[in-house]
Amino acid sequence: NKIVVVNGPNLGRLGVREPEVYGKQDLNALRQLCVGWAREYGLEVDVRQSDDEAEVIGWMHQAVDRRTPVVLNPAAFTHYSYGLRDAAVQVTDAGLPLIEVHISNPAGREAFRRYSVISPIATGTITGMGFYGYKLAIESIAVLLKARH
Ligand code: DQA
Repeated sequence: NKIVVVNGPNLGRLGVREPEVYGKQDLNALRQLCVGWAREYGLEVDVRQSDDEAEVIGWMHQAVDRRTPVVLNPAAFTHYSYGLRDAAVQVTDAGLPLIEVHISNPAGREAFRRYSVISPIATGTITGMGFYGYKLAIESIAVLLKARH
């Protein structure tokens, strides 16, 4: 009953970084919220963040090996990391849900944010809902896991 929430580069700067886009709350606040939301569905959550592509890729491998569903905010890796895409597809190929989350709505921002290399292989994508998007992602995983049983 474990899930992992993985946050990519610069999300450790939440609260400080462009608060008009990402809000005033920090990563720790997001972590506390996710723990509470997961608990509502009887799930245990591990909220991680890294600026290091190799580390984020390693967490995808670990999710496959431990059979852990993933909530992934790939941050800027979204737009160009084929390495992360190839790691993330192993999660969904293993039959595990992987929900892509973006705090902002990348479709309404700079042109380079309009394409995601992750979306085509994600189970689903939630954008533009602020931190609440993580709740929707956790809830989606709970629903998917229930439907599979
Ligand atoms: C983001 C959107 C990305 O385009 C950006 O690079 C981020 C955060 C979001 O949560 O809205 O770092 O993934």
